[in-house]
This record gives sequence, C-alpha cells and structure tokens, in this order.
Amino acid sequence: MSVKEILFSIRRDYRGKPLDERSVLRDPIKQLEAWLKEAVDSEALEPNAMVLATSSPEGAPSARAVLVRGLDERGLVFYTNYRSRKAREIFANPRVSGLFFWPELNRQVRIEGVAERVSAEESDAYFRSRPRDSQIAAWASDQSAVVESRQALEEAFAKMKASFGDDAVPRPPFWGGFRLIPAAFEFWQGRENRLHDRILYLKEGDGWTIKRLAP
Ligand SMILES: Cc1cc2nc3c(=O)[nH]c(=O)nc-3n(C[C@H](O)[C@H](O)[C@H](O)COP(=O)(O)O)c2cc1C
Repeated sequence: MSVKEILFSIRRDYRGKPLDERSVLRDPIKQLEAWLKEAVDSEALEPNAMVLATSSPEGAPSARAVLVRGLDERGLVFYTNYRSRKAREIFANPRVSGLFFWPELNRQVRIEGVAERVSAEESDAYFRSRPRDSQIAAWASDQSAVVESRQALEEAFAKMKASFGDDAVPRPPFWGGFRLIPAAFEFWQGRENRLHDRILYLKEGDGWTIKRLAP
C-alpha cells in the first residue's frame, strides 16, 4: 500500500468516558491533574509530554515536545535551555500554547497562556534531581545551535565530564524552567460518531467560565 492509501485507510472509532460541562471539575488545573493521573494509570508512554508552541516576533509558529515537571495552581512547569529557539521566542513573545495528546484514552488537552521563567531556586531544585550525565549534557549542549557533527557533540560532553571530575555539577545559568500560566484550557474527549466532547475553560477574574464547544 502506498502512503497515500495508508493515510486514507486509517479509521478509528473514538470511545471514552463522557465529559460534561456540568460535572467537570470547576478548576481546570484539578481536571488536568485527574487526566494526567489517568494517563499514567493507562500506561501512556509519555504521559507528561506536552507539545509546546511558540512563535517568532513575526508570528511564525513552531512546536516541539517538552516534559512537564511541575503542576500546581500557578501553572505548568517545564525545563529547557534559556538560549534555545523556544526560549528566545518566549522571551520575545511570552504567549504560548501547550498540547497533551493521550491516544490510549482518546483525549487531548489544549492550553493557552503566557510563559515566564521560574525562580532560580525552583530550577536549582529540579536540576539537582536530574541524573549526573543529564546535568553534564545541559552544560555541553548549546541547544538549537548548529553542530559540526555527532562526534563534536560527544567530544564536548566528554570534555565537560572530565572538567567536572568528581565535583557536584551546578545548574548552568542558561538552563532552567518556564511556567506556562494558563488563561484557557480545552479538554477533548473522543466519543462515538465523531460527536466528541469539548469543554472550554476561560479565565475570568479569579475563576473560570466553562462552556461546551461543537466537535
Ligand atoms: C518526548 C519528548 C520530550 C522532550 N522533553 C524536552 C524537555 O523537557 N525540554 C527540552 O528542552 N527539550 C525536550 N525535548 C526536545 C524538544 O522537543 C526540542 O527538540 C528541543 O527542546 C529544542 O527545541 P527548540 O530548538 O525549538 O528550542 C523533548 C522531546 C521529546 C520527543
């Protein structure tokens, strides 16, 4: 079969637990926590992977996956290199969008808001929890820059590893967290006959308004 035929022939029936605007949790962060737990329980391969979209000052979007390492009433935290493309785009335009997709559960969650740097203390605490080789890699890799070759990358890592010897590896000043502070969420639950449930939360003052969207 050609790719074209394959793409035409893939068919899925979506089924899932109904999602109702009257019974969803009033706080979308709590609703996201509940869905994240269910994604973990359903043995989703990367339950905390979120596709993060940023855009250039000219409005050109770009997207990539990041791992969410923190979630509380303030928002969602991920860690990265502050000189990476995504970070440079965030500093120029903090408006971002995040997306979780859990095919095991026929679910997706869209999030829109602004990203801001987390405190140095928060980044330090997470950096300390990382495996030593990941800490060294954070120093060795100039994320998003063009590299000469795989070999050059591995040499940079080996050199960095040797230079630290047995010392503790401190957090690089150019590496740390961002918090996505949400202003809108959409929870999508796949349902029969393409009549999916879509529940939209919009931030209004201290609370959230909740509406259903057409699938
Ligand atoms: C499942 C998955 C998880 C990832 N998690 C992270 C992450 O937490 N932080 C990060 O900087 N990059 C992560 N990456 C790599 C990014 O997708 C991306 O390649 C990298 O951050 C550079 O993106 P940029 O050039 O747009 O800044 C992950 C990739 C995948 C596929």
